[in-house]
Amino acid sequence: MLDTETIKKDFPIFSGKNGKNPASPRLRRASKLVYLDNSATSQTPAFVVNAEVEYYKKYRANVARGLYPLSVKATAAYDEARAKVAKFIGAGTREVIFTASATASSNMLAYALENSGFFREGDEIVTTIMEHHSMLVPLQELAKRKKLKLKIISMTPERELDYSEAEKLITKKTKLVAFTAVSNVTGTINDMKRLVLLAKKVGAYSAIDATQAVGHMPVDVKAIDCDFLFFSGHKMCGPTGIGALYGKKELLEKLHPGFFGGGMVEEVIGNDTFFATSPSKFEAGTPNIAGAIGFGAACDYLDNIGMAKIEKHIREITRYALVKMAKIQGLTLYSELNAEKNAGVISFLVHGAHPHDTSEILARHGIATRAGHHCAQPLVKAMGEYAVTRASFYLYNSKEDVDELIKGIGEVKKVFN
Ligand SMILES: Cc1ncc(COP(=O)(O)O)c(C=O)c1O
Repeated sequence: MLDTETIKKDFPIFSGKNGKNPASPRLRRASKLVYLDNSATSQTPAFVVNAEVEYYKKYRANVARGLYPLSVKATAAYDEARAKVAKFIGAGTREVIFTASATASSNMLAYALENSGFFREGDEIVTTIMEHHSMLVPLQELAKRKKLKLKIISMTPERELDYSEAEKLITKKTKLVAFTAVSNVTGTINDMKRLVLLAKKVGAYSAIDATQAVGHMPVDVKAIDCDFLFFSGHKMCGPTGIGALYGKKELLEKLHPGFFGGGMVEEVIGNDTFFATSPSKFEAGTPNIAGAIGFGAACDYLDNIGMAKIEKHIREITRYALVKMAKIQGLTLYSELNAEKNAGVISFLVHGAHPHDTSEILARHGIATRAGHHCAQPLVKAMGEYAVTRASFYLYNSKEDVDELIKGIGEVKKVFN
């Protein structure tokens, strides 16, 4: 287990007044903030905040444009950040495009594939029931624009992907297999290599939404051998407003960009433009420079602790929570129940309580969870619900945090009994 007391000290939100339970004194029982909404966004260590602030205070300038020292320094820091993010997932530096978020990455990929003349009417895209809307909706839109068929792999009753169905749905007609590495509702870790291999067998490209995986477990794009993979900075101790899209170098070179503007051209002549090489050709306009620098710092921070240790810690906390929660009468779990296959996400319902009420009562006890469909409506509906409450863990969570959750659920049951 990681020493969470020491780790929490790295995060300003857990110290001083900030670290206190924000609920009113009459209602609060837990004295500390118990943050269990990490699948929505993680907290930020001072190390990352400082890296961003330093840019604003000491060398703020635009990148890849100015020849004066401030701009040269900002450009070097931006390039270095890209190298750090790339190294973090085992990619080459030129294979990582900075975007605004996982959602922006997913949309960018859809437009780039479309603009590259990649799809013909009747082609098929295979995706999964587990997708976050940020993967699913851009694919739906792409399918409508290009008259493609979108096929959905379902889930087994154990909340694992149905791989036998995947084998049937992925055929010679499949052009793209697009799937999430980890479900943000059930925590299920999908077998990325297996799905990539199925795509390869039929000559389809693979695209992975690794938003709930990167920063939570070691992810190596070369070992997975996927064609594309994307994620967000803010789910892994980085700033909001920054994400990444990985693509194999040879593919990025072939792809036509989806967004256009300054900073991505080699030459503009009359009615035509020659684009810069990748990754610049995909980064039109002034990028989120501070965000990229903070993103790079987040990779450093997590690397210093060690991704294998972080993964193990999250697993241990998840195992502890699953065992305890399974024993609670009148509570149903909507997650992968095997901690070995769960990346730290537990969705649940307290019988007789609306999930929003559950989350609200937990909040009064200083416990931050999230309730709703978690931007994965098809998945939640497939489980027979419209909303669930979700607790999600990260490197700073401790078994004591889980104990507070369990006590909080007890309070919910008291209210609704
Ligand atoms: C699995 C998954 N994919 C994509 C996203 C979208 O991330 P962002 O809102 O940072 O674009 C999320 C956010 O919750 C997610 O959980």
